Amino acid sequence: MPPESNLRVLLQRRPEGAPRPADFAIAEGSRPEPLEGEVLIRHRFLSLDPYMRGRMSAAKSYAAPVELGDVMEGQCVGEVIASRHPGFAAGDKVLNGRGWQRFSTVKGEKLIKIEDDGTLPLSSYLGVLGMPGLTAWVGLEDIGQPKPGETVVVSAASGAVGQVVGQIAKQRGCKVVGIAGGKEKCHFVTEELGFDACLNHREDLASQLDAACPEGIDVYWENVGGAVQAAVFPRLRDFGRMVMCGMIAQYNEAPGADASGAPAGPNLGPVVRKRLRIQGFIVGDSGWPRYGAFRREMLGWINAGKLRWREDVVKGLENAPTAFIGLLEGRNFGKLVIEI
Ligand SMILES: NC(=O)c1ccc[n+]([C@@H]2O[C@H](COP(=O)([O-])OP(=O)(O)OC[C@H]3O[C@@H](n4cnc5c(N)ncnc54)[C@H](OP(=O)(O)O)[C@@H]3O)[C@@H](O)[C@H]2O)c1
Repeated sequence: MPPESNLRVLLQRRPEGAPRPADFAIAEGSRPEPLEGEVLIRHRFLSLDPYMRGRMSAAKSYAAPVELGDVMEGQCVGEVIASRHPGFAAGDKVLNGRGWQRFSTVKGEKLIKIEDDGTLPLSSYLGVLGMPGLTAWVGLEDIGQPKPGETVVVSAASGAVGQVVGQIAKQRGCKVVGIAGGKEKCHFVTEELGFDACLNHREDLASQLDAACPEGIDVYWENVGGAVQAAVFPRLRDFGRMVMCGMIAQYNEAPGADASGAPAGPNLGPVVRKRLRIQGFIVGDSGWPRYGAFRREMLGWINAGKLRWREDVVKGLENAPTAFIGLLEGRNFGKLVIEI
């Protein structure tokens, strides 16, 4: 395929249950030309994120679905090839939301210029320094509000959001317990990221939680839902907080069950008795105007060697559908990005 053609991944069919490769179509077209006020971008990395499953569905949500035949939505980092906007020049690195394709033209106002000195990989602006990292920072600031000495439990702990949540909570002086799928991920979470413990949700989670959190749980960061949520919820302490970030185990399912057929969630009766706070949030609500403060604090930790991360880089845009299907089954290990 000629390198200058615009390879694109389109939504072909709305999935029922787990997405399949045939729900996507690979298309090739000519490279677009920028109009006045636009820039032409060569995408280098595409972020694959769980929210994209929602965009494939026509069900009512906080954002509009991708239309059939349209390019799949997603954030990319790339390089400006040509500019017809005074704020950008060829060679600038930018963050944009033009999705699963090799090139895009975008109005300058819709782009974020990446001001970096080249020391961090470009892909980090899709993960630790991008939307997932910002999600972790904002959700802890606004809802989790962890205090020194408290116990924080994080599900999908080795993933894009979870790995940052746990490390920020450690910086705030908490005891941090991760939950992840399998021994290898758990080993990474404790040995590389420095969590105090990590529990394998493929084994008996309830008894592992009792052993790791004998005093109960002050903050639960919810990334997964389903059976994991059902095990964690009864162990929340009085005045506990549950940060409802996402419930990936339920995204492919009809409302009311997870993949194992477990009940959708726990009995919420104790919310009153324990004076719990359960709050959902979307990073786009209030996150991006606070990006500067987030970036300053994160770079401080990164430069001091206090914050680490892992990326799962898959090469080739044509492999994006299979990689995305794997994300919903826990096959990624770290922040999933496509190198285009
Ligand atoms: N509210 C917001 O604004 C916002 C923003 C970004 C992300 N999110 C949410 O945050 C969560 C994590 O996103 P991420 O980008 O960081 O993804 P990720 O953790 O990098 O990848 C997804 C992980 O979820 C786990 N998983 C998948 N299916 C599962 C299942 N059936 N049961 C248990 N675990 C399962 C797997 O980890 P294991 O192998 O460890 O189980 C998988 O690796 C998602 O729910 C996402 O929707 C919300």
